[in-house]
Amino acid sequence: MFCKAVKVVFRPDVFGPLLRQFVRKYNFHTKLPYRNLPVMGVTVSSSREKKVFLSRKSVPQPSFASFSTTGTLTTDTGEGTSVESSTMIEVNVGQYDDCLQDGTMRTIDIGEGKALLVRENGEYSAVGHKCTHYGAPLSTGHLSNGRVRCPWHGACFNVKTGDIEDFPGLDSLPKFEVVIKNDNVIIRAHPEQFTSHKRVKTMVKEDTSCDKRVFVIIGGGGAAMKAAETLREEGFRGRVIMITKEAHLPYDRPILSKKLAATADSLKLRSMEFLKDHDIELMTKTEATALDNNQKTVTLSNGTVLNYDSVLIATGGKPRSLSIPGSDLENIFLLRSPEDANQIGVYIKSNLLSSVKRNSPLSVASFVPGKNVVIIGTSFIGMELASNFADKAASVTCVGRSSIPFANVLGEKIGAMLKKTHESKGVKFITDAAASSFKGDRGKLTAVCFNNGTEVPADICIQGVGVSPSTDFLKKSSVPQTSRGDVIVDKYMKACEGVFAAGDIAHFPLKMLDWEKVTIGHWQISHKHGLTAARNMLGGNEEIDTIPFFWTSQYGKSIRYCGHAHSFDDVLIDGSVDEQKFTAYFAKGDKILAVATMGPGNAAAKAADEMFEGKMRSASEIRAGL
Ligand SMILES: Cc1cc2nc3c(=O)[nH]c(=O)nc-3n(C[C@H](O)[C@H](O)[C@H](O)COP(=O)(O)OP(=O)(O)OC[C@H]3O[C@@H](n4cnc5c(N)ncnc54)[C@H](O)[C@@H]3O)c2cc1C
Ligand code: FES
Repeated sequence: MFCKAVKVVFRPDVFGPLLRQFVRKYNFHTKLPYRNLPVMGVTVSSSREKKVFLSRKSVPQPSFASFSTTGTLTTDTGEGTSVESSTMIEVNVGQYDDCLQDGTMRTIDIGEGKALLVRENGEYSAVGHKCTHYGAPLSTGHLSNGRVRCPWHGACFNVKTGDIEDFPGLDSLPKFEVVIKNDNVIIRAHPEQFTSHKRVKTMVKEDTSCDKRVFVIIGGGGAAMKAAETLREEGFRGRVIMITKEAHLPYDRPILSKKLAATADSLKLRSMEFLKDHDIELMTKTEATALDNNQKTVTLSNGTVLNYDSVLIATGGKPRSLSIPGSDLENIFLLRSPEDANQIGVYIKSNLLSSVKRNSPLSVASFVPGKNVVIIGTSFIGMELASNFADKAASVTCVGRSSIPFANVLGEKIGAMLKKTHESKGVKFITDAAASSFKGDRGKLTAVCFNNGTEVPADICIQGVGVSPSTDFLKKSSVPQTSRGDVIVDKYMKACEGVFAAGDIAHFPLKMLDWEKVTIGHWQISHKHGLTAARNMLGGNEEIDTIPFFWTSQYGKSIRYCGHAHSFDDVLIDGSVDEQKFTAYFAKGDKILAVATMGPGNAAAKAADEMFEGKMRSASEIRAGL
């Protein structure tokens, strides 16, 4: 019936794109029973009838196909081919030996979309090619031990399954089938897999007839969202109740200081429909006011007392503010939530621009032009704001305790370079002085005064002076806490019987520091904590195993930081700090505790993998190579 090999000559460079355009335009590709289009290097096969239409000719359906650049189609029916019941694309991407070097990966265009082809330990696999967080090309990331790590913010994906294993981002990658036939590497995919570069893992539905347990998640941030999904992914059929005092669905908080006009809705991590579909109950505008870990109850601001079988505390931080005279003046802001930005909009509406509509989503950014801005605190958030305002405001002044911003985190050389960059954009720094009062006129801020007698004109002041944990509601509980209020957990993110904690408020043991306990406020960590805690709430025994990964963006340039160094005694720099192209190693004794990078490439991802696998070089080895 079927030929062993068929040759069809045509001009895919001319005819192929036109036909493809036509078929896509009229949506034929979803209607036709046979889906074999002359796309370069691609054939689509159907199990229904083994026929292919090409240039009005009907030829037997190939098991494998490849279109050479000269337009010659060669087919081979092969043997033992398992064709899926639905329509599939097959593409021959080349010879086993030549396709990829071992330990490398490449983005492959397969007509309907792209895939990341990986070869590791002699085995080929193929998954989605774009990171599910912000879409970085994963082929430029770092491949190691069955995982590809994103070059931008460090998310990790299993190259065999496509599953996300470290974060940020919630979704996994699509996974494509790879078969080796007659020494050819063949990728098979369903066209639907290309409709999104993200794959939501399968989740179970609630069924309280088979599981009566109630798991309560206090908080509605990254840690909470990841935990809620993980419970369903791991097969939990009891009730999942997520409580947040915010009015919003969980949203992408790090964006707030980078895209100031973003609304909570535009930043949401999941839609309400998604939560409903997966039976995740969300109580917004509801605060947990007390927890009784002996009675296993959570009291809510609306008076409800919830009984739980297991509870996750993921309440994040609340921004601190200065208690100095004048703190109650208008135009002094914090930045933790979209409302913080919108408060400024309210001010504009009532005081400056009568034309602004009620409740319009105004932001810090809309207020700034022509104004004097003072930012108290030279934290990453403060400096990201400064970079946002530099070309918009009349003046931007940053107030910091140390003479060089970030010196305690990034060292003096990098801190000085960043300061210089800000200064070159017109940002002024006041260091070695503390704000002592806010001065105002008719209730509105006019200046910030300092303990050395100076004052700086200010129409707006944003305080970025750190956060404290939102854990006041635990006061009457016996949940273990640090003096600061962080919840102390073990390797399994467990605080005490039935109580787990995750995210910014968790004081947890960090493997790379020989399980020394730390509190780390990174977006990535919040997700990883949420995942690990949820698995252990279900009775798992999974240790928290991650390398902290942080990023900041200022003037369009990113600094990526992995590892964790409370303190360091040397910074070894490979590259040029002045040119903003470097890898900096933070050493304590002979051990590298953290790495910061700037510039293109995957150096941060590579360093994070080396730390994760315990393969990071010693300080003396790095010094010898510099
Ligand atoms: C402006 C800004 C920029 C940032 N940029 C970066 C960055 O570039 N990279 C990075 O890695 N990290 C960044 N971070 C830090 C990152 O956002 C946090 O580490 C992360 O949000 C922590 O997640 P979480 O789930 O622990 O807590 P959160 O995101 O703070 O969420 C906690 C939630 O719990 C709610 N809650 C608190 N108390 C209660 C209660 N009693 N009852 C009910 N709900 C409660 C809160 O309202 C909040 O919705 C940034 C943070 C901010 C504010
Ligand atoms: S884009 Fe990949 S981790 Fe952010």
